[in-house]
Amino acid sequence: MEPKRKTILALQKMKAEGEKISVLTAYDYALARIMDEAGIDVILVGDSVGTVVSGHDTTLPVTMEEMIYHTRAVVRGSRQALVVADLPFLSYQVDLRDARLNAGRLIKEGGAQAVKLEGGENQAATIRAITAMDIPVMGHIGLTPQSIHRMGGYRVQGRQEAQARQLLADAQAVEAAGAFALVLEGIPRYLARDISNAVSIPTIGIGAGVYCDGQVLVIHDILGLCEKYSPKFVKKFADVSGTIRGGVDAYIREVKDAAFPATEHSFD
Ligand code: KIV
Repeated sequence: MEPKRKTILALQKMKAEGEKISVLTAYDYALARIMDEAGIDVILVGDSVGTVVSGHDTTLPVTMEEMIYHTRAVVRGSRQALVVADLPFLSYQVDLRDARLNAGRLIKEGGAQAVKLEGGENQAATIRAITAMDIPVMGHIGLTPQSIHRMGGYRVQGRQEAQARQLLADAQAVEAAGAFALVLEGIPRYLARDISNAVSIPTIGIGAGVYCDGQVLVIHDILGLCEKYSPKFVKKFADVSGTIRGGVDAYIREVKDAAFPATEHSFD
């Protein structure tokens, strides 16, 4: 029998029972399959694809077509995880019609079970419009990469009292608008704790400390695949770059020495 995918209800139950929620990003079939088989709760097809896969400096250039392409691959590679796909920059900010249509495309064409968008009180109407179509929405507040130009860089948010109060209001607005979960990115851990206690939906932290209901990281960061940036909140759980370099070096050497292909790799 096919294993059943996790649902948004399962995540809410995990928060109620104090079980931490594990989330990782994926953008392709192969990695999605490995992390799904390992038992990850949620796979996020993040618009971080723009930086770690496509090599852009920001997530801003990512398009709907790219998000649909990567979401489809991840859905094909997974069976039990809930797949959440990011709405990229400009796919939901202009008007509610665009937002509803693009959220619907990630579900219908991409095969995701939920979408994520960045913003708090300023996006509450958008979250309400999408959830009114029965599409589950994950919110995302704090250091929101699509707001890089307003923030003046990737900076920790909510250190000043007024900013912290605004983030708490944002979290409550996102919950009231109907989101099923909320990413808290790049905020002080005690603020993340207060927000996690103030909302009944699960909070998923990235650079937000241990008090969140779950954690998310970018797969390239935890595997040591992306050496361009290494933010303080990232823990490298493996050195895949080193392994790949070793494999590629060995391949080049064997090709140059005519040690590969050997007889067993050749046809008679
Ligand atoms: O795009 C992304 O990968 C994200 C997470 C890091 C939260 O939004």
